[in-house]
Amino acid sequence: MDRIRIGGGRRLSGEIPISGAKNAALKLMAAALLTAEPLHLANIPRLADVRAMAELLKSFGVAVTHTPGKGLGEGDTYTLHAAAITSSFASYDMVRKMRASFQVLAPLLARHGEAKVSLPGGCAIGARPVDLHLKALEALGAQVTLEDGYVIATAKSGLHGARIEFPFVSVGATETALMAATLARGETLIGNAAREPEIEDLARCLIAMGAKISGMGTSRLTVEGVSSLHGASWSVMHDRIEAGTYAIAVAIAGGEVELLGARRDCIAPLLDLLEQSGTDTRDTNRGIALHRNGARPASVDLTTAPFPGFPTDLQAQFMALMTVGEGTSVIRETIFENRFMHVPELGRLGADIRVNGDVATVRGVPKLKGAPVMATDLRASSSLVLAGLVAEGETIVNRVYHLDRGFDRLEEKLRGVGAEIVREKE
Ligand code: UD1
Repeated sequence: MDRIRIGGGRRLSGEIPISGAKNAALKLMAAALLTAEPLHLANIPRLADVRAMAELLKSFGVAVTHTPGKGLGEGDTYTLHAAAITSSFASYDMVRKMRASFQVLAPLLARHGEAKVSLPGGCAIGARPVDLHLKALEALGAQVTLEDGYVIATAKSGLHGARIEFPFVSVGATETALMAATLARGETLIGNAAREPEIEDLARCLIAMGAKISGMGTSRLTVEGVSSLHGASWSVMHDRIEAGTYAIAVAIAGGEVELLGARRDCIAPLLDLLEQSGTDTRDTNRGIALHRNGARPASVDLTTAPFPGFPTDLQAQFMALMTVGEGTSVIRETIFENRFMHVPELGRLGADIRVNGDVATVRGVPKLKGAPVMATDLRASSSLVLAGLVAEGETIVNRVYHLDRGFDRLEEKLRGVGAEIVREKE
């Protein structure tokens, strides 16, 4: 298994191109199942999860053409052609490895009339059930049964429009309802919909494919079903979590870096907190520039929330910054239980963090010290890399396959701005 070796203490300087968003790309790839015509997707990030989704789509009979982009600044292109769906079975092995593969359920059902998709099962960052997905599909007229850990959904005479009111905000369930409703007969109203920018990206691509959707960016989506969708070309939005992670890298390591393609409206709460803790942020015509001198960051509190709140996917990274803060920071995680798995690993580097339920209290220390640590999940891994950038001496992050699931060539990008970071193959 690969590991990453980081020498702490280097200031960062230069520019980092931000890749396409993983959390948009995976759903856009699944959306290719909704049409018999080719879907051309540009600005796809180079990630293990994208390769896994391509393999899964192939197993349904989708023809996949992959054209790598040039250098770090250009995303990959995929053409996905689901002329005929030859299988609608997604195995446990597949869905267990990557929860987003559950998102094939709605498009398979809507287009093909049936699907058998494994339940994702337990997950390192909490129970993560799929009840809201299944209730939405049932409201749209699907028969849903659970058998031996599999969801079997059928809609032999097609789906119909419905009013769906989610009891709480779920990104995945909103996307499930949205994709299924595009091919349902009549109108669907989705209330208390998630407003994450990746959902708008998906909705806009679906519109380019002929779907009739209004209310994008709000918590009420309206979908007027159509009988079929057609092919389209779409360029995936930038990855706001990757942008946010590198913004925190500058805050923790110090220096001046421009994040090419980043947008303030997508990470506003993070940039506000970075400003409060002493990092300058500035919009440029190519993205966002961050600047921080060598002083310790001021400690600030944060609470995660659905968009437009502070994203749970940046909580671990911000905690890494707060470990060296001047003062005490109270971090509350409201989206996932058990999303503090990075805490003991940050502790190995000398961080002082106490966890009580969904609250972590971080007492800033003047210095972290490098040590071997273990990546536990995708975002937790990136927090360890960030801590390694400021820790004295050498930090070795083991089990980096988590990082490869969600960060496009992270060590190349950080090395490009002067970090001392290498990957060791085993
Ligand atoms: C997506 C993102 C993930 C991000 C999360 C929250 C992808 C591939 N992943 O995950 O990176 O951290 O949004 O922004 O886009 N829940 C239920 N029942 C359901 C569905 C969800 O109880 O049917 C719960 C979950 O356990 C969680 C909360 O709702 O506590 C929010 O989850 P959700 O927004 O659905 O996250 P994902 O779509 O899985």
